[in-house]
Parts: sequence; structure tokens; C-alpha cells
Amino acid sequence: MFFRRCEREDIPAIRKLLSYFSETQATDNQLWLCVSLFWHHKKYFIVQEDDDVVAVGSLVAESKLHHCPQTCYHIEDVVVDEKQRGRGAGRMLVQGLLDEIKVAGDAYRVKLRCEESKADFYGKFGFLPNGITMQKEIL
Ligand SMILES: CC(C)(COP(=O)(O)OP(=O)(O)OC[C@H]1O[C@@H](n2cnc3c(N)ncnc32)[C@H](O)[C@@H]1OP(=O)(O)O)[C@@H](O)C(=O)NCCC(=O)NCCS
Repeated sequence: MFFRRCEREDIPAIRKLLSYFSETQATDNQLWLCVSLFWHHKKYFIVQEDDDVVAVGSLVAESKLHHCPQTCYHIEDVVVDEKQRGRGAGRMLVQGLLDEIKVAGDAYRVKLRCEESKADFYGKFGFLPNGITMQKEIL
């Protein structure tokens, strides 16, 4: 297994993995356009085993004026293929994302949202619960 940046050919597999959260009507070309256009802001990474994409996750860089020039990163879109869970892909993915943040060299904090049942998984990487999340649905 290895961790790498997402490429155009990964899009069909990533679409399948992200259907864990919701299905999209966008075409593969539209999805790749979004990945490419917003790369400076949001980067997708995968874990590959043999020829298969077994996990996906993304990193969002959020600039905050009151922490300028440092950056708050968000880990998002973490999914491991259901059949591949429990084999270390999730650990490789999250560690890979944290390594990317370290290499960027400008982070003061990393945040993520998760279900309570995943808190112990993220706790293994040093994440701690902090406050509550609130949201308002627009669509
Ligand atoms: C959560 C998820 C990413 C874990 O991936 P995984 O590949 O099964 O995890 P790993 O095999 O790499 O496990 C790494 C470690 O975390 C532990 N772990 C895995 N899932 C866990 C969970 N839900 N709660 C607590 N610990 C967990 C493993 O036991 C392992 O511990 P160890 O290293 O001490 O032996 C995966 O179950 C998943 O994709 N779930 C559905 C999507 C999801 O919920 N994503 C998170 C959205 S924020």
C-alpha cells in the first residue's frame, strides 16, 4: 500500500468511495476539473494497493488573517473501501495527510469533523474533541 496525490485516472474510484457521504450527478470530467481548479485550496490524496484505490481523503488549507501567515488545515472526505477496512489503509491515509501538512510547513492547527464512533480512530493521531459543530442546510 502507498499514499499519493490523486490523479485523473483515480476519479471513478474516488467517486465510488465518496458515495459513502453522498452521490453526485457530476461527470468524471467535471469532478477532475474541480480537483484541478481548486488544488491550491483543497488537495485530494489516495491510498493505492496494487491497481486499486482503497482510500481517499482531502486537505483544505484555510487562511486566517489573525494567524497570518500561518494556516489552519482541515482533513476531509476520509473513506476507506468497505472491504478493505481494518487493514491499515485509514492509518496510512491520515498519517500521509498529516505528513503533507508538516511538509507545507505553515500549519498552526489541523481540524476535522467526524462521527462520535470515529473519535477513537482520530484520537490515535492526537486529535481531541473540541466544542460542538453547528450547521444549517441550504439545499
Ligand atoms: C474510519 C476509517 C477511515 C478507518 O479506516 P481503517 O482502514 O479501517 O483503519 P485502520 O485499519 O487503518 O486502523 C487504524 C487504527 O485505528 C483503529 N480503528 C479503526 N477504526 C476505528 C474506529 N471506528 N474506532 C476506533 N478505532 C478504530 C484500528 O483498530 C487501528 O488501531 P491500531 O493501529 O492501534 O491497531 C474507516 O472505517 C472508514 O472509512 N469508515 C467509513 C467512512 C468514515 O467514517 N470516515 C470518517 C469520516 S470523518
